[in-house]
Formats: sequence, structure tokens, C-alpha cells
Amino acid sequence: MDRARLVAHASKWFSQDNQRDLHSRSPSRLRITKDSANLVVMNDTIKTILSRRSVSRLSDPAPSSNELDIILKAASSAPDHGSLRPFRFVVFQGEQKTRFAKVLVEALQNRASSKGSTPTEGQLRKENAKFERAPVIIAVAAKIDPYSKILEIEQLLSAAAAVENLLLAAKSLNYGSMWRTGEATYDSYVKKAIGLEENDHIVAWVYLGTDSSMQNEPRDPSVADLVTYWTENT
Ligand SMILES: Cc1cc2nc3c(=O)[nH]c(=O)nc-3n(C[C@H](O)[C@H](O)[C@H](O)COP(=O)(O)O)c2cc1C
Repeated sequence: MDRARLVAHASKWFSQDNQRDLHSRSPSRLRITKDSANLVVMNDTIKTILSRRSVSRLSDPAPSSNELDIILKAASSAPDHGSLRPFRFVVFQGEQKTRFAKVLVEALQNRASSKGSTPTEGQLRKENAKFERAPVIIAVAAKIDPYSKILEIEQLLSAAAAVENLLLAAKSLNYGSMWRTGEATYDSYVKKAIGLEENDHIVAWVYLGTDSSMQNEPRDPSVADLVTYWTENT
């Protein structure tokens, strides 16, 4: 629908009922509200997207196994050129987080020793504690099919889209999250430990849990400096 028709449509509904719930007409429960300057079309999906923020410290409760299942389904619904399903999700929770922290520490030691050095006590402690920052961590990887006609970068982008779906699905179920990377992300020893091959890529360590601080306010992003509407004179 073009903008003029959208505004006309919104005006019609707004005048009939200020907070009309169109659930029966639309799966996204379209709600139309009005501020002083503009007509604004806002639904639950848009609200979830606009209010998602990263949360660096997450606590219990973690998503339940049913919730995790739906979050992963949402992640795997990302756009995927060629239907390769190039994303993989490795879930760490409970004791397994502590065990995997040892892999991260070993990987750090290997990286340092390949440069002829050793990590400091502080670096080792930090690496060992990383997975304590959330009750659930999900490594999201791009499983690359090198023989596909779909370019590797597109397989990678699809996995990145899966990450964003995952963050938004978690947010919509009232869980906090954070997309993290760091040196271990690109470390062959770490990739192998989670069942990946050399040409696969870890694209994110998604930290998931409950945001008890609620410190990060939703942004009100301005897009004016990011967007141009192309004309022949651009
Ligand atoms: C590919 C990628 C990797 C990231 N890696 C890290 C990271 O290792 N550590 C970190 O603090 N933030 C990292 N971030 C940024 C945060 O996830 C977050 O998006 C950023 O701080 C902006 O905050 P917001 O998510 O609340 O908008 C990464 C983001 C992306 C897209």
C-alpha cells in the first residue's frame, strides 16, 4: 500500500476507534494510534523491533525448553537464498557452559602460544568467566556449502539474519539478549569443538536470559542521515 493510501486507511480506522484491534483481520494485531504530528502505524512486531536493546548481564529465568524451541524456529525462518538452511545453532546451558569455558581458555592459550606468549592470569580468568554472563548461550554458525552456486557471503548473511530473528523472538517473549563475537569466534580450535569445519563461520554468540536491570532504554532512531530516495540527480 502506498503512503497516501496507508494514511487514508489509517485515518478511517482511527476515526472509527482510537485503539481498534484488528486481530481478526490481520495476524499482526494492527493497532492504529495518533500523535499530534503524524499518523503512526504501530503493531506488536514493530514495537518488539524498536525496543530491542543489548543486555550485557543476563540472569535466570532462562527461556524454557518450549520457548527455546520457538526462538530457534524463528531464527531458522530467516531468509535463505537457495533453501540451503545454512544456519546451525549450538546451545550451551547449565554445566555444559562451565565445561565449554575450558575450551575457550585452551583456545586462548593456543592463540597466545602461537604468538610466543602466554595469557595473563586476568585474561584467563576473564575468558573462563565469559559464559557466566547469561544462563543460555547460543552459538550461531554459517555452515558453508562450498559447492553451492549460492555465494559464501550470502550463506553468511543468511546466518546473520537468523541471529537477528533469534534476538527479536527472544525479545518478544520478554527475554534479554546480546550478540557477541570476540577472538574465539574466528578460532579453528573453537569451531572444531562445536562441530564446525574450517570453512564454516561462527557469526554470533547470542547470550540469552532475563534482563533484571532494564537499564537500556529503547532508542528513537533517526534514519534521516542513513536514507536517500534515489533520483537521477543522486
Ligand atoms: C556482528 C556483531 C558482533 C558483535 N560483537 C560484540 C562483542 O563482541 N561485544 C560487544 O560488546 N558487542 C558486540 N556487538 C554489539 C552489540 O551486540 C550491540 O548490538 C551494540 O552494543 C549496540 O547495542 P544495541 O544492540 O542495544 O543496539 C556485536 C554486534 C554485531 C552485529
